[in-house]
Amino acid sequence: MRYHGEMMPGNTTTTINPAKLMDGRALARRVLDGAKTKVEKIRAASGVTPTLATVLVGDDRASATYVRMKRKRCENVGMRSIALELPPDTTTAQLVATVRQLAADPAVHGILVQHPVPAPIDKRAAFETIPVEKDVDGVTSATLGRIILGMPAFASCTPKGIMRLLQEYNVVLDGAYAVVIGRSPILGRPMASLLINAHATVTLCHSRTRSLPSLVCSADIVIAAIGRPRFVQGGWIKVGAVVIDAGYNEGNVGDVDFAGAYEPASLITPVPGGVGPMTIATLIDQTADAAALQLGVPLG
Ligand SMILES: NC(=O)c1ccc[n+]([C@@H]2O[C@H](COP(=O)([O-])OP(=O)(O)OC[C@H]3O[C@@H](n4cnc5c(N)ncnc54)[C@H](OP(=O)(O)O)[C@@H]3O)[C@@H](O)[C@H]2O)c1
Repeated sequence: MRYHGEMMPGNTTTTINPAKLMDGRALARRVLDGAKTKVEKIRAASGVTPTLATVLVGDDRASATYVRMKRKRCENVGMRSIALELPPDTTTAQLVATVRQLAADPAVHGILVQHPVPAPIDKRAAFETIPVEKDVDGVTSATLGRIILGMPAFASCTPKGIMRLLQEYNVVLDGAYAVVIGRSPILGRPMASLLINAHATVTLCHSRTRSLPSLVCSADIVIAAIGRPRFVQGGWIKVGAVVIDAGYNEGNVGDVDFAGAYEPASLITPVPGGVGPMTIATLIDQTADAAALQLGVPLG
């Protein structure tokens, strides 16, 4: 496989060893195939089609695209999706009321409130209206609390997707030292908890962290979830480390300097095609699992 100038900083052309790449697209396809089988089983056993409700507020184009992609994946696996679109001047109370209706609707098995929402809205209030059993995007404080305690819940989809990638590539987590950069409630924090639950030793870094490069230098696993293009430098990466780039910045650029990190890394996720596809696949799979639980259909 060859990655050309537009994927690399400068005009370099680097020959890539595919064995080093963690292929999120391929794994996401398998997860979606599994979700399709689950949907068929649920429908056969209960006569009910698993359903995801998406709520989009405002006219942010990127958010609208994400919702479309998620609905398309629902369709691909035979799942139903209900799309609610609210105007940009929606109030917190109106959004909460909408989510409350979906929460009470037995035909809806999973609820996704697409974020970001327009600034005046208190998105946390909307998230907290989602019952844990329908929180397939893993955004509520109750879900995060359960994840921290190692209790069953639908984890936030990006960190959960990353855990699946690590498992797929047989990355040993037990006793490994992981550095997670970013502490957001949907990414860094649940990521750190999932890694701790898998017996890794975790340092959770953020914008106030001192000496970040020296922490990253000793990590067996580096997870970048910052939102700054090519922030993590190749020179920070220990030889043999596993590098997961959750970042997604304009121009298909991740939070890791891929060209620099590729050589020392033993495994690395590309952007695009690494973490991104796993996020949506995890959402769809968790919606199928939520439907099975709510309908009492054992999936075996
Ligand atoms: N692939 C996917 O499906 C997917 C899904 C969600 C997000 N993402 C991507 O993942 C990235 C992170 O997303 P997010 O929602 O977690 O972002 P976020 O809420 O903006 O959080 C960013 C985190 O990075 C930390 N940070 C910022 N500058 C830093 C610095 N100089 N040194 C160390 N840490 C720094 C922040 O620290 P403070 O807390 O101190 O401010 C914060 O904790 C973005 O690129 C986003 O596009 C991808």
